[in-house]
Amino acid sequence: MAVPRLRDGPIVTAVEPDPRVPRDLLDSASGRGYVSASSSSDPRIMARMLDLLGLGPGMRVLEIGTGTGYNAALLAHLVGAGNVTSVEVDAGLAENARASLEAAGCPVRVVTGDGVEGCPDGAPYDRVIATAAVRALPHAWVAQTRPGGIILAPWAPVFHPDGPLGVVAVGADGHAEGRFVEPAPFMPMRGQRVGPQEAQDVREWWQGLGEPACSRFGLTVTAEDEHLLWMDEPGRVLFGG
Ligand SMILES: C[S@@+](CC[C@H](N)C(=O)[O-])C[C@H]1O[C@@H](n2cnc3c(N)ncnc32)[C@H](O)[C@@H]1O
Repeated sequence: MAVPRLRDGPIVTAVEPDPRVPRDLLDSASGRGYVSASSSSDPRIMARMLDLLGLGPGMRVLEIGTGTGYNAALLAHLVGAGNVTSVEVDAGLAENARASLEAAGCPVRVVTGDGVEGCPDGAPYDRVIATAAVRALPHAWVAQTRPGGIILAPWAPVFHPDGPLGVVAVGADGHAEGRFVEPAPFMPMRGQRVGPQEAQDVREWWQGLGEPACSRFGLTVTAEDEHLLWMDEPGRVLFGG
């Protein structure tokens, strides 16, 4: 029997028209003008993210962006039955993932909804992981993570062109702080796509800083929900408010 070759790279599982492309230029046969709306993420990045989360049995995890349900199944395997909630904005994808997870015998709660709101019923979580890129850290995720917990999310290229992965530790009273570790390009959260002009502006701003690596950037969320982006150390704020 032929054994399928495993490969790195995401597997696209759903597409949608690119809002930047005029309707008359769309061609569903060739895929022209369409962008990925869901995928099973690059396995190497998935493994790296699971590692960064420092998961252990019994931890309660919230995943944003269920997609196929594959990463949710890995999470459930690592933290145990009934501890994973996953939110998917697309009702059809959520339904498919629910069916796949059930067929695979993985007890994950799949909720259809906008992941920006998190999933209050189920909070507090020990870990929150997003598998779609955010422009800013949603307040709900901080509020629904217990003090000492970690939020891991890929960022849209809004300050670094490579779309860095942020690891943010939640403290008491809504304070949170963390660093960006490495590039991890993900599709954007629904409605959060960065347009070409903004991408170009960000690249030029970053080049003006001397093209610093992702790992030099950090983020502080204050108790008043100010978001401060800094470089090298929390006192060196680049912008925020
Ligand atoms: C890269 S895919 C997720 C991969 C998934 N974790 C897996 O293992 O297959 C990103 C997913 O995020 C979903 N998504 C985008 N915006 C969302 C939002 N606001 N709330 C919840 N899910 C969202 C997309 O529909 C898509 O299925």
